[in-house]
Amino acid sequence: MTISENKDLLHLNTFGISARAQHFAPIHDLPELKELILQEHPTETSLLVLGGGSNVLFTKDFDGWVLHNGIKGIEIIEDNAETVLLRAGGGENWSNFVDFAVENGWWGLENLSLIPGTVGAAPVQNIGAYGTEQKERFISLEACNLKTGEVRTFVKDDCAFGYRSSIFKTEEKGNWFVVNVTYHLQKKPHRILNYAPLKAAFENTPLSKLSASEISNKVKEIRNSKLPDPRKIGNAGSFFKNPVISKSQFQQLENQYPNIPSYPQDDGTLKVPAGWLIEQCGWKGKKVGNTGVHNLQALVLVNHGNATGTEIQQLALQIQSDVHNRFNIHIEPEVLIL
Ligand code: EPU
Repeated sequence: MTISENKDLLHLNTFGISARAQHFAPIHDLPELKELILQEHPTETSLLVLGGGSNVLFTKDFDGWVLHNGIKGIEIIEDNAETVLLRAGGGENWSNFVDFAVENGWWGLENLSLIPGTVGAAPVQNIGAYGTEQKERFISLEACNLKTGEVRTFVKDDCAFGYRSSIFKTEEKGNWFVVNVTYHLQKKPHRILNYAPLKAAFENTPLSKLSASEISNKVKEIRNSKLPDPRKIGNAGSFFKNPVISKSQFQQLENQYPNIPSYPQDDGTLKVPAGWLIEQCGWKGKKVGNTGVHNLQALVLVNHGNATGTEIQQLALQIQSDVHNRFNIHIEPEVLIL
């Protein structure tokens, strides 16, 4: 293991922000991780586990340890007539992992194609898109305790998965390094087409013939048509979560804005697309210095080149304040701001 000091993280975060890590350790396997934990005691200072860097905004240098999850490998744990259990290293690229499943004709992850980031980060923030979330296919993960080096298996019920949330973002925040994750895939078709634009895209196709790979390709097409490619324009996907509001607050808003989109939740509350709220405030496509709001999806803040994390944070604060003043709704960042 090569530990670096004062490491520039510019190419390790999709916002493309230059920030330095005081200590940086790439982790390739569990023994390497345990050795680092027992020798360096990284939890005694600040500690960040970095995957694909696709959900983080650095506003300053990181004083402490950055552990980069580079644990690779995809393994078939079980393969029978109906299902496949697939296990991937926490440092595997999520999108490549999904492609692997789709290319084999296994169902379950195709709607989550092209989401940036690593397999290890997927359960931490319970990634989701186009009508599903990773929790629907999640079986278990193995994680290493960053203080003791103990390895523990977390099954689905241990993880408290919620909307872009899990126990690893709440009670157990900062305590674990995800070594690998196991997902349950199906050999029989299982088409999830409840997301309107996806359904619309297949309007003229007989649904019973649709393959996982056709759905995956369509998802990629939709994503590419709306979301900026981080290799070209720095961004971290949705910057904010979609807020959840009460029915009475929604009704008041609906009187004023009859076109307000919403997604009813099981408990009677409603999720409102933050992208819509931000667009209504006039932010869509706006540029502020080196930063801006994406012109095709207002939920995505972008680095037009050489932006600092603080500039992006300032933009986010202005947007939050405008949305609050206009709608009396607080929108919370989905991105980890450091
Ligand atoms: N909308 C606008 N203006 C905008 C953007 C969206 O009016 O600029 C409206 C659209 O009219 C649409 C609604 O908002 O009716 C929803 O938009 P979209 O389908 O693009 O989805 P989203 O709610 O903005 C969420 C996820 C995305 C995920 C998509 C598709 C969050 C925070 N974001 O976005 O996830 O890809 O649904 O499932 O839940 C991510 O987390 O990084 C991410 C990209």
